[in-house]
Amino acid sequence: MEGLQAIKYKRGKLEVLDQLKLPHEFVYENVTTCEEAFDCIKAMRVRGAPAIAIVAALALAVELDHKKDNAQRKEETAAYISKRLDFLMGSRPTAVDLSNAIKLLKSKAEEAVSASSTSGQAVTCADVRLCYIETAEKILADDFDTNLSIGRYGAEYLRRQEMPIPKPVDEAEEFRYFTTSPPGTQGAPDMKYRKLSVLTHCNTGYVYGNGSSQTVFEDVNLEIRLVLSSIPLLTTTRSLATSGHGTALGIIRSLHKMNYLEHAYCTETRPYNQGSRLTAFELAFEKIPATLITDSMAGALFSRMKNEKNISAVIVGADRVARNGDTANKIGTYTLAVLAKYHGIKFVVAAPTTSIDLSTESGDKIKIEDRAKNELTQITGAIVNKDGTVDTSESARVAIADQTIDVWNPSFDVTPHELIDAIITEKGEVLRSSKGEFHFKDIIPERWRRDVQSGTDTETNGSSAIPRTPSEEGTQFAMEV
Ligand code: MRU
Repeated sequence: MEGLQAIKYKRGKLEVLDQLKLPHEFVYENVTTCEEAFDCIKAMRVRGAPAIAIVAALALAVELDHKKDNAQRKEETAAYISKRLDFLMGSRPTAVDLSNAIKLLKSKAEEAVSASSTSGQAVTCADVRLCYIETAEKILADDFDTNLSIGRYGAEYLRRQEMPIPKPVDEAEEFRYFTTSPPGTQGAPDMKYRKLSVLTHCNTGYVYGNGSSQTVFEDVNLEIRLVLSSIPLLTTTRSLATSGHGTALGIIRSLHKMNYLEHAYCTETRPYNQGSRLTAFELAFEKIPATLITDSMAGALFSRMKNEKNISAVIVGADRVARNGDTANKIGTYTLAVLAKYHGIKFVVAAPTTSIDLSTESGDKIKIEDRAKNELTQITGAIVNKDGTVDTSESARVAIADQTIDVWNPSFDVTPHELIDAIITEKGEVLRSSKGEFHFKDIIPERWRRDVQSGTDTETNGSSAIPRTPSEEGTQFAMEV
């Protein structure tokens, strides 16, 4: 079945699924200007580090497709692009994907302006606009492959951490083990390894792919029936009810598909409930064995269920990974990392290389977004009728705390790299070295040279990175000129 599309895009038209209304309502918002994109991001109708960058980039692409720059000269188009991107940068500060995308888009526009000097051809406003639009569209398209790779590398990394079972497997318990026998080999599976269970936090499950012409989405349990757009789309994001994608959630999907997964746990993720509203919905929709817990239950879960369920890892996404591996992610991530350490559970960050910020040395330099007080003291949800049924057609906002109490609401926290075992990127895994350090030099060498070494340092870093792709071509690195 085709899944839900979080972002629907064709050149000149951008629609964004309002994630605040999920899982009960599916409403698309037409985003036609940078102001609308800014508001959509700020209000968290679209959220998650890569999606924020994509919506910002594409909103300006829509403006340019409609020639809103009103420019007569190519320099004016570039100046318009720069000004609009600077404006969008203020929408949410913590996720680095947005600033990386902005750097890339600005540099591509500048390159287009100066292209005439090398090609001898006159460059027009239309060329600069087109160059911007194509770059923005490539950011969207590249993210698809990125997510799939993270899922595969992460699942393989976790599988390799499992130790063989010392005593023979009780055959009645067969379903709790996975086989390492290569596909197609004769004979019974060896069943030496337990399937593993994982916990994830927040929501990391959106994904990007080439669009379908029509999507029908039906879930009887939720009494939801949706008929999505019949317009053939250039590129779309599919999410929140589809298969095989996302970053941390992508790894869970891959584990499930590879038959390594026993159970996934997801936290509610207060105060905005991305876990209960979005991740729980995705897991349930895809019938991945899963259980929702409140954030405060993680310690009890590890202490009581670690052995029974073989809870092997906490897997989270990232909004910004500093040069030393310190990672900013949704508030509550740090607490989970401390708990994981205490219980001997791996702590894994799943992040595209666009989320690595080499110019920020360590986590204490990361700016953390503080959000509104009423995110803690009030909540919106669907109406529960007197007979216990849920009326998804109506929602209400209710107060859940004293409305005069002072509130602290940082949206993210920083997990020190000492608590992180592995950072899984689309280029492979980066492990904490025996000295307790992370090194990204081998995985993003060009960016390392540009941002860290400035071309003079010949030091070897002893990194335990395993780069899987020799080339750095693609959106993430095109900015490294
Ligand atoms: O406030 P949000 O919902 O934008 O926070 C999202 C997260 O913290 C995610 O874990 C992170 O952006 C990674 S999404 C692949």
